[in-house]
Amino acid sequence: MRMPLIAGNWKMNTTLAEASALVEEIKERLDIIEGVEKVLCPPFVSLTLIKKLLHGSSIKLGAQNIYFEEKGAYTGEVSPLMLSGICEFVILGHSERRQYFGETDEIVNKKVHTALKAGLTPILCIGEKLEEMEARKTEEVVTRQVNGALKGIESPQRLVIAYEPIWAIGTGRAATPEDANITIAIIRKTLSHLYGDGLALETRILYGGSVTAANIFEFVIQPEIDGALVGGASLKAGEFLSIVEQSAAAK
Ligand code: PGA
Repeated sequence: MRMPLIAGNWKMNTTLAEASALVEEIKERLDIIEGVEKVLCPPFVSLTLIKKLLHGSSIKLGAQNIYFEEKGAYTGEVSPLMLSGICEFVILGHSERRQYFGETDEIVNKKVHTALKAGLTPILCIGEKLEEMEARKTEEVVTRQVNGALKGIESPQRLVIAYEPIWAIGTGRAATPEDANITIAIIRKTLSHLYGDGLALETRILYGGSVTAANIFEFVIQPEIDGALVGGASLKAGEFLSIVEQSAAAK
């Protein structure tokens, strides 16, 4: 049985004061929800403060990115070594990183290597563009992205994958739960080819893209979908709590 996971990707939102206010607003109700792994991914600068606010709670922390070197002359970058001890998870290969910061499958692959080495659990994001979906290339694209990101990795014991069709992110146009389930089954098959059925069946694969309190239930009742990576809705306390509560009820 895979424990469902709901991760909130706050992206480049919240000042330190706003981040702590949001955590204070959700932490008690979020903490007591059982049967779902709950992960908050605030901006880097808020991580240490939120870690303190969450001390002793069941809510976990993730970062939104890392650089692939451990240390050195890389002005402005954050290394995985700096994060281990602060958070458990790190979002890698998000489509916004690929689109605005030129991240390729090769770069994402290097980041997966260093994240795993530092003891972090990657939340590896993959997903097709609108034109790729329309050209029925979804399977080809996600398979290429999974193979690319995991190249040279022998057995990723700590790995979460988030299938996020790019056309669904922040658009209010989510994939249908049935289509997401089919694509996630394809991603699981790719994992199975790489690492065997055991690891493929253990690895959690999330859906992401315009997840809200109104649609989460239909996603998490799908057999292949193990939770969600939530962007916009994770910044609204009531909405996010409802998403996590419904996920617990659904599984
Ligand atoms: P969204 O973002 O929920 O706002 O669509 C999801 C994501 O980018 O992870």
